[in-house]
Parts: sequence; structure tokens; C-alpha cells
Amino acid sequence: MRFGVILLAFLLTQCQPEIAPKTTISSPDGNISISFDLQPSGAPQYGVRYHQKDLILPSTLGLEFRDHPALHDGMTVIGTSEREINETWEMPWGEQHLVENHGNELKVELKEKNEPGRMLNLYFRAYNDGIAFRYEIPKQEGMDTLIIMDENSQFRLNEDPLTWWIPGDWDIYEHLYNETKLSKINAIAKRNHPNLAQTYIPENAVNTPFTMRLSDGTHLVFHEADLTNYAGMTLKVDTTSHELMSELVGSDRFGWKAKVATPFHTPWRTIQISPNAEGLITSRLIENLCEPNKIGDVSWFKPMKYDGIWWEMHLGISTWDYAGTQDMNSFDQIGNMKPTGKHGATTANAKRYIDFAAANNLKGVLVEGWNVGWEHWIGFDDREGVFDFVTPYPDYDLPEVVRYAKSKGVEIIMHHETSAAPRTYDHQLDTAYQLMQSLGLHSVKTGYVGKIIPKGEYHHGQWMVNHYRKVIETAAKYQIAVDAHEPIKGTGLRRTYPNIISREGLRGQEWNAWSTDGGNPPQHLSIIAFTRMLAGPIDFTPGVFNIKLNPYKPNNQVNTTLAQQLALYVVIYSPIQMACDLPENYEGQPGFQFIRDVGVDWEQTRVIKGDVGDYVIIAREERGTGNWFVGGITDENFRDALFDLDFLPPNTTFTATLYHDGPDADWDKNPLALEIDKKEVTSEDVYTVYMAPGGGFALSLIKQ
Ligand code: NOJ
Ligand code: CA
Repeated sequence: MRFGVILLAFLLTQCQPEIAPKTTISSPDGNISISFDLQPSGAPQYGVRYHQKDLILPSTLGLEFRDHPALHDGMTVIGTSEREINETWEMPWGEQHLVENHGNELKVELKEKNEPGRMLNLYFRAYNDGIAFRYEIPKQEGMDTLIIMDENSQFRLNEDPLTWWIPGDWDIYEHLYNETKLSKINAIAKRNHPNLAQTYIPENAVNTPFTMRLSDGTHLVFHEADLTNYAGMTLKVDTTSHELMSELVGSDRFGWKAKVATPFHTPWRTIQISPNAEGLITSRLIENLCEPNKIGDVSWFKPMKYDGIWWEMHLGISTWDYAGTQDMNSFDQIGNMKPTGKHGATTANAKRYIDFAAANNLKGVLVEGWNVGWEHWIGFDDREGVFDFVTPYPDYDLPEVVRYAKSKGVEIIMHHETSAAPRTYDHQLDTAYQLMQSLGLHSVKTGYVGKIIPKGEYHHGQWMVNHYRKVIETAAKYQIAVDAHEPIKGTGLRRTYPNIISREGLRGQEWNAWSTDGGNPPQHLSIIAFTRMLAGPIDFTPGVFNIKLNPYKPNNQVNTTLAQQLALYVVIYSPIQMACDLPENYEGQPGFQFIRDVGVDWEQTRVIKGDVGDYVIIAREERGTGNWFVGGITDENFRDALFDLDFLPPNTTFTATLYHDGPDADWDKNPLALEIDKKEVTSEDVYTVYMAPGGGFALSLIKQ
């Protein structure tokens, strides 16, 4: 009898029609293909080929739940469909004006063979610059709300590539990049970094974007797009089998990775694929996978250069707090505080920065430390309810500062340091943004320094992903654009919400002011351009001219030449770019002319040449003027940058000003050796520019 049942079951499975046992879609140019099929166990699997070679070996997909068995084995394909996506969309501000979004999509509908016959859809997309896939759980009986314990998206590599990685830290991306073979990745060794107030690296995993180079020169970047109501993804590394596995950021408070309601889909899991390093920077795969603009016209935000009351605090010249002290040991009680005597955000100081901005083609001024709460900031665990986003310190006349700025054609950039107490910020969002709206202010820099309150949440978990999103959506209602520090990584959502203007999410310039590990090394930014920058705009805050930070920080310095600081305005993309040094350090400096002139919003971008971690040269055409700017940076090795100007329109003369390293320049021994040459050029001209160790160049090409 028993045998009979088994036989019957066997026969039934055999008779079931198998629909499209292996389904393949290709990129429009045919170079990339994704194949989908089921393993004998019924587990969904996909593989990726590039130019007829296996990039990703058959890799399985699945989801685990708290209250249901996993969706993995025992699936059957009940339908497949394909569609082509082919559109061109406009970036309201960006690295380029128009973006082509052309790819092919495969939808695979799966159903469990056995009861309860749950359904799962998978979407795959093949573009010329990479692939993506996502899970969708349709609305179905018994699955209204799902608690996701794990996502098991596997990426099996075919070799042991060279990789550039930071650890899969659930709280912060501010780590130095490591260059190792995949088999040598050791994220655990990066725990307990001396300069990180909050950091949690539970696995041998890496954060994304995760960049690698295969032995044939193909470059891959693993990342995600459209991170919405879900946890951020890290990638667990199997150093023996060269396999990556999605590892979602969790919540100790809830003990799960995500809680979602059906219908629901995960973010896209993405692999950018390029025959060379240069192609990674111009890939728009991540934005293309996100929904179109949901907030309408954002012309109230104008890309801008800015200065501000900021670097002076990082150098220790002034303080964020008006009274009290951020040194816990000598902290007096609130209400019984003595003025520090060094408060940076005073009305008079703000006016000094406004005057400097107005005189130098900078349209914004950031003022940090203007509001009540800083006196109770660092080192305190009871940060909840402390920051007040509407009450200025007594020596800062906010309306007067705003009025003065306006009268000079400059706008104040608001600052909201939440001290990682997001509920306190959340409660005040509307009042804080109403205040900004009443003052006519359109941009805010936010910050999330410290361990997240409530305890058990992490910066990159679902709860915080939703907080960061709520901030963006609320800000949009008040016509406010957001530059988040200690953010969630960029996943292309600036397309959907173009009020996400920039973010930190890396070791920025500030590390050079105070880190105890020697600051950002000379190769830092030539890695960043091919890793973190693929997640979108970076508020790096370039422009330090006092490279040795004398006399304020005898043990710290910036590890680049002055010419490289100028190059960063072109190389690092952001619609807001700070001239971060003290105004007095720019006075009388001929190199500052480049910062006055350089554009911040681009019609098009060309990556002339580059290699991850070595050097990169980028040319960008300014929107509206037809002027071009070129930036080149190198790591600790000197190099000649050789390029022609064939990107310029023919038969047009440009005034070219080249800011470059002198012959004896060196990031450490002689960082200020900057030379400036001016001449007339056309598209026929060719440049050979010497880039010193840790150096670079900046070239402005102004149309005559
Ligand atoms: C860290 C940010 O990265 C930095 O720019 C800011 O000055 C401080 N937090 C204070 O908010
Ligand atoms: Ca930071």
C-alpha cells in the first residue's frame, strides 16, 4: 500500500508539465545573459554569463520566515513572461542630464508543489551594464504579514577575484577599503576600530557596493537598488568556495531581519558588469532600477558649492556647544553651564562665512552647532529628547543670519544632528521643517552619530531604513532637500526622491582632522571613485588648502597634494560641494580660483581613464554653460595623465587653466607645490600632466 502511494506520487510528479525548464534573457547588446531554472529539489536558481563565459555559476535563491517554512525547495514554475524596458529619463540634477534605461526583464512565477502551494515571483533584468533580480511575494491566503528571518541569495563566483572591500558593519560605512583576493577577506579582523563610536560586524561579510576585478579584466560590483521597507544587505563571504550570500542587517530588539506586509518585494540585488574599471562610474544601473520621480518638480533645490562653520570644530578651534563641554569628565549640569567661550555658530561668525561665500561664487553656508542640545551630546546614553531643532543658542540670531545671507544671494544650509536618537528627531520633523519653510531654507544636513536609540537597532536595519525614508518624504512636503551623514547607503532612490541630494557613508575629509590611524591614505579616493561612489553622490567636503593643519593639529594632516584637493570637485560627484577650509586659508591663494569656477551640475560625464585604487581621470560638462572641467587623482604613486580633449565640441576655442602638481610635489613632503598654466585650446589638443605621489590635477575649460 505504502509503496503504491509513493509510486503514484512519483508518477504524478513525472506527468506534471514542466514549463520552460530553462529560461534565458539577454541584455539588449547580447553580451550578458541570465538563465533561470529549478534544481532537482525544486529550488530556484540562476546563473549569469558574460561574453559566453560563466560569471555567476548556478546560484540558489530563497527566503526564510519565522512563522512559515522557507520558500526554497519544492517549487514549480507556473508561468514566465518577458518585457523590454526602453525609456530615457531626465535627472533634475546629476552627473548627466539624460539617462537611457534599456533592458530586458524576465518574470518567473513559482508555486510550491505541495500544500499550501505558496506563491513566489522572481524578476530578473539584463542590461548592457549589469543584471539585477528581486523577489516578490504576492498577496495570498495566510501570508498577510511576514516576518523574514533571512534572505538566501547566493552569488557563486567562478574564480578568486581581486576585491576592494569594507567590513559588513551594521552601523557604519566609515572604514578604509581593503584590497585583497576574495579568499583573503577577513572582516572580523576589522572589529574594534579605535575611531568608531558604534560598529557591529557580526560575520565575515562585506558591505556594498562591493567591487572586484576578475582575471580577464572584467569588473563586477555587487550592490542593491531601491532599498525600501527592508533591511540593508551585506554579503557573507565564503573564502574557500568564493561564494557570496546575502546577509541582512538585523534587529536585536525584534530578533528578525524584516517585517513586511504582502504584496511585497525585496530591493533589487544588482551586479554591475563592465569590461573595464571606467565603465563602472558611468553605469546608471542602480538608478534605472528605481521608480521614477515621485515628488515632482524640485527646482527649488539648486546644486551649489558651500562653505560653513564646520572644519573649525573638527580642528578644535571652536565648539559645537555654546556652554557645557563635550568632554564628559568636566561636564557641568545642564542649567548650570558655563559658556565655552569658543562657540562656533555665532551670528558674527556666520556672517563672516556668508560674506566669504558671496564673494566667491559659493551659494550655501552650513552652520553646525546653532541649536540647543550639543551641550549634552558625546558620551551620553540618555540622548533621547536632548536635541532641539528649533531653538538656537543665545548667541545665534537665526532669522538675522538667514536674512543677511539672502541679502547676499546665499542660502543657509540647516543642520540637524540627531545623535542617533531618531525618535526625538521624528517627533520634531514637522516643526523643524516648518521653521525652515518659514525662513525659506531648502536644504538640511542631518547626522546620526552614535549607537542607535532604542538599543538593539542598527543604522542599516529595516527600522532605520524606514526612519531615513520618513525624513525624506516629510522633507519633500516642505520642499527640503536632505544631505544625510551616518546615512543608510544610496540605492538609487535619488531618482524617486530627488530631494535626496547627497550623503556621507564613507570616511570623509573629517577623518583627516582627528583620526588616530593616520587619516585617509593617499589611495583612499582612487578606491572610493570605484566603490562607494557607485552608491551615489558623496558629501566628502574637499578643499583643504592648509594640508598640514598647522597649527591646530600637529599630529594630523591631509594625505594628498593641494592639486588633488582641487581635482576632487570633479572626480567626486555631489550636487553640493563644500569648500571646507577656513576662509582665511583661501585668502590670496591662486588655486582657489578653480573652486570659484568649477561647476556642480553636469550635462554629461566622461571617465577618461582609471584603475581601481590607482588613479582616475574624469571630465564633466557643466549644464547650461558648455564649460568643461577635468579632474585627475593618483594614489601614492606618481603618474603621467595623458589625454586628449576630443570630448570638446569641434572648432570651438576654450580658455584652459590647469592646476597641477609641481615637479617636486609630494603628498607628505611638499603638498603645496601647485602650478597653474593658462592657454587656449580646442578639441585637437592633447595634455600630458604629471601627477605627483598622492597628487592630481584640475583643469577648467571655459568656452570663449
Ligand atoms: C559627523 C558628521 O560626519 C560631521 O560632518 C558633523 O560635523 C558631525 N557629525 C556633527 O554633526
Ligand atoms: Ca561621519
